[in-house]
Amino acid sequence: MSSTPVSASQPSSTGLAPRRVAWQVLQAVAAGAYADGALERELGRTPLSSIDRGLATELAYGAIRQRRRLDAWLDQLGKVPAERQPPKLRWLLHLGLYQLLLSERVPDSAAVSTTVELAKQGGLARLAPVVNGLLRAFLRRREAGDPLPLPADPAAALALNHSLPDWLAADLLRWLPAERADAFGAACNTPPSLDLRVNRRRASREQVLAAFSAAGLTASAIEGLDWGLVISGRSGDLRQLPGYDEGHWCVQDRSAQRIVPLLAPQPGERVLDACAAPGGKSTHLAEAMDDQGLVLALDRGEARLRRVERNSARLGLSSIRTRHGDAAELGREAPELLGSFDRILVDAPCSGLGTLARHADARWRMNPASIDELVTLQRQLLEGLLPLLRPGGRLVYATCTVHPRENGELIAALLAEHTAWQRLEQWQLWPGEQQGGGDGFFAALLQAPQGAGGGATGGGGASTGGGALGAGAGAGAAGAAG
Ligand SMILES: C[S@@+](CC[C@H](N)C(=O)[O-])C[C@H]1O[C@@H](n2cnc3c(N)ncnc32)[C@H](O)[C@@H]1O
Repeated sequence: MSSTPVSASQPSSTGLAPRRVAWQVLQAVAAGAYADGALERELGRTPLSSIDRGLATELAYGAIRQRRRLDAWLDQLGKVPAERQPPKLRWLLHLGLYQLLLSERVPDSAAVSTTVELAKQGGLARLAPVVNGLLRAFLRRREAGDPLPLPADPAAALALNHSLPDWLAADLLRWLPAERADAFGAACNTPPSLDLRVNRRRASREQVLAAFSAAGLTASAIEGLDWGLVISGRSGDLRQLPGYDEGHWCVQDRSAQRIVPLLAPQPGERVLDACAAPGGKSTHLAEAMDDQGLVLALDRGEARLRRVERNSARLGLSSIRTRHGDAAELGREAPELLGSFDRILVDAPCSGLGTLARHADARWRMNPASIDELVTLQRQLLEGLLPLLRPGGRLVYATCTVHPRENGELIAALLAEHTAWQRLEQWQLWPGEQQGGGDGFFAALLQAPQGAGGGATGGGGASTGGGALGAGAGAGAAGAAG
């Protein structure tokens, strides 16, 4: 069934198609799919107007984020607890309740009628009266000003209020005072800002702002960042924006834009970006080095490396080479690279707890056991990479998480074993605490000892010749070579 035709500025409040897309996405994510991939697949199968695509996206991502809170309402209103509902019914009720609870653009009557209609058309006809009854029971509770009771336990209350997993809420209250933990929770459910980084080799920030303004877009410079700007009130295909094809800018969160300046690479240097894909920071490194020298972009994900190559090509950068492999093994696989890099960036795989606003399903994927595994991997990466740095060279370890075990505690444990290394700077940015938004990010700047380098034996100094780099380079030279 196709959606009801809509005017240019209104979502189709009576349309079933966008809601069916959202329902399918909720079911797919509950079965293990990633939210963005599932949404893209469902949108690919169902032709929708751009307004309805926006509605499907809001409902799917919103209901996934609010899973915890919506379940609590189902527990209150239904005869059967949410966990024991047939999954298809549970996710449909989530969709309906989400619209009543949090969607500003859907009238109550449309939320109820479309959810009941979807039940009838979607194989739950027998349960349509249950759906109707439960949603109307919610409306009566709301009318009576009878909210969801909050548990007395502060961690359980925080978890319910912001729809977070219990373990994360409990951790947040160990790490932060209650008020800051609450701000973190609120930030996880606030749409992230759309930040761009201007490519200084192709355009000035003023030029990009002028081009956006001429195209009727509202954009402004981000304070404290030389090349950052933010676009307001825009969604849809960013490739249509002025300057995209010309490589004038790329999308990069404002916190992520602070990592490369901390490493401060210089033109002509040899820099290893050890966890590089999709290339947001490799391209930033090359821009900061005026595209002179070498950025070796290494990643374990071969397909993801193609994105580094496409991004470098679009931005017109030729100093980036890609290499496929495990960063923890690079020194063993290519011993000629030991001690050869002036700077190394380790933008490590992490739990992503600083980017929960961006990834609707991420909070439900992570758990303490998966964080243990990540900490082991992060430590292996660092241990494997230290010997690649030249004596006195600098390394930045960065993550987009706020978990101390992946961040400060990991660096402290590393330095306890590598006592000749120095920590020059370290910071943690928390979601909800920066002006205008921004992901949670951690960074530590370390310096290798002047004498023996990072413990490297041999090592080729800081030459910019890249002869050794081709050896075993699965991905070969970047398509970026322009
Ligand atoms: C946080 S992402 C990097 C984002 C990237 N630096 C950027 O700014 O666009 C982490 C990356 O680490 C890669 N990765 C994970 N384990 C790795 C390993 N052992 N060796 C190299 N890369 C690895 C993942 O494939 C992923 O692309």
